Amino acid sequence: RALSQVRKEERYPEGIKWKFLEHKGPVFAPPYEPLPESVKFYYDGKVMKLSPKAEEVATFFAKMLDHEYTTKEIFRKNFFKDWRKEMTNEEKNTITNLSKCDFTHMSQYFKAQSEARKQMSKEEKLKIKEENEKLLKEYGFCIMDNHRERIANFKIEPPGLFPGRGNHPKTGMLKRRIMPEDIIINCRHKWKEVRHDNKVTWLVSWTENIQDSIKYIMLNPSSRIKGEKDWQKYETARRLKKCVDKIRNQYREDWKSKEMKVRAGNEKEEGETADTVGCCSLRVEHINLHPELDGQEYVVEFDFLGKDSIRYYNKVPVEKRVFKNLQLFMENKQPEDDLFDRLNTGILNKHLQDLMEGLTAKVFRTYNASITLQQQLKELTAPDENIPAKILSYNRANRAVAILCNHQRAPPKTFEMSMMNLQSKIDAKKDQLADARRHLKSAKADAKVMKDAKTKKVVESKKKAVQRLEEQLMKLEVQATDREENKHIALGTSKLNYLDPRITVAWCKKWGVPIEKIYHKTQREKFAWAIDMANEDYEF
Ligand SMILES: *[C@@H]1O[C@H](CO)[C@@H](O)[C@H](O)[C@H]1NC(C)=O
Ligand SMILES: *[C@@H]1O[C@H](CO)[C@@H](O)[C@H](O)[C@H]1NC(C)=O
Repeated sequence: RALSQVRKEERYPEGIKWKFLEHKGPVFAPPYEPLPESVKFYYDGKVMKLSPKAEEVATFFAKMLDHEYTTKEIFRKNFFKDWRKEMTNEEKNTITNLSKCDFTHMSQYFKAQSEARKQMSKEEKLKIKEENEKLLKEYGFCIMDNHRERIANFKIEPPGLFPGRGNHPKTGMLKRRIMPEDIIINCRHKWKEVRHDNKVTWLVSWTENIQDSIKYIMLNPSSRIKGEKDWQKYETARRLKKCVDKIRNQYREDWKSKEMKVRAGNEKEEGETADTVGCCSLRVEHINLHPELDGQEYVVEFDFLGKDSIRYYNKVPVEKRVFKNLQLFMENKQPEDDLFDRLNTGILNKHLQDLMEGLTAKVFRTYNASITLQQQLKELTAPDENIPAKILSYNRANRAVAILCNHQRAPPKTFEMSMMNLQSKIDAKKDQLADARRHLKSAKADAKVMKDAKTKKVVESKKKAVQRLEEQLMKLEVQATDREENKHIALGTSKLNYLDPRITVAWCKKWGVPIEKIYHKTQREKFAWAIDMANEDYEF
């Protein structure tokens, strides 16, 4: 920067050097690489294998062997004292006299190495140069106020022996390896805390002020840790598959129980302000009991705001005993009273844990969603339909699940517009197809008269054109059906959270449907574990 420009810049109060500072921290020295087995150290004429720490310090000495330093008494004394600190007890007992240490083989090895470096090919040298430049680009600059500045020494000096000038009393001492725990970082922010906790997987955390909840920066779903957690979730749901019948029989029995608590089933997080309810917090006003409705007996009509403030409205026929119990629970209560007043999430979750380890209400959802997808795929996939039709079948199976999970959506604002666009594409395609058919017909008529190779060829190519257009039209029509059926349903939530991805991967492999047709890029990243793992006969 020109000096004039520097002068023009804002002047800070006495002692203040900057307002903004950002950098990536230092680059540490590369870790020690142990010597190859063939390089020997000798003590008192005998080969001795040194421990890694002792060996590392020995190499510092070996690298300086040709230098006058290593003959100076004070250098040798300082070195030997520090070296012994790095030795194991056994080494300390053996190695007591530096004059008996023979570093020549080590020294020869390093000389050969440095010779080899000089002989490197152009390509090898270029590669090293590029790596250094990359490092420089990433760590070699900082932003100080409005300027990107080159950092003088972003690489931390590697460990070695302190040479010292003249007869420096500390000559030969070990200059330790600098580790992150030695480092003080100076930057623009004063962090609340810098923590080292390998029991958690988040990188950054803070407390949000609206609900006072703790927020985290986490790894991408494609990471190993997230993949394992996802896998675990579906394995738990698969365990439920094995005992769900037993659990259901048990609760049918419990419906007869005299104890209120046993007969029923507060999920709301502390501080949640929206009036949404879960199974424990249902209120009397959220249900209506109909001994008979639309030709069905014992119908419970639900109407409440569920998860994410989405209205849940459904009429569900239940068994008589459930119906009678609900009547009992509603007796002498006001509309705003809890339906299941003896129950809370703690009790429910404890009960679920007793039935199966790891069981929560969500596991039921995951299990039901996944098993339903698997069943629907089996039912809906026709072996000889083409790929677009198979994708439609997949989406229909996915929709069945989304409906089950009450994953509704308001149709996007662009819905009608995009349907209209699609329709006009279909119309255009139909016109093209009609033209192509006419051309084919007249080519066939020509061929009948001419009977020569050239007209036959024309017929073939016209036929192909018709086929191509038919396929394209079919694809567009399938797309339109798919979109129309999807108007009020959101597939993403179930796909991302409740459907064992291995079912989908297996289905894709079995029917030769490219996985990209079902999962977009981020979904493929999240489900990388399943894409690697599942073969076509995977069963949930
Ligand atoms: C150390 O070893 C050298 C070479 O073998 C020997 O001359 C010297 O006397 C030894 N020093 C001690 C203190 O044992
Ligand atoms: C999934 O849930 C639906 C609706 O509650 C239920 O009818 C169905 O039986 C369940 N399926 C399985 C396999 O549990």
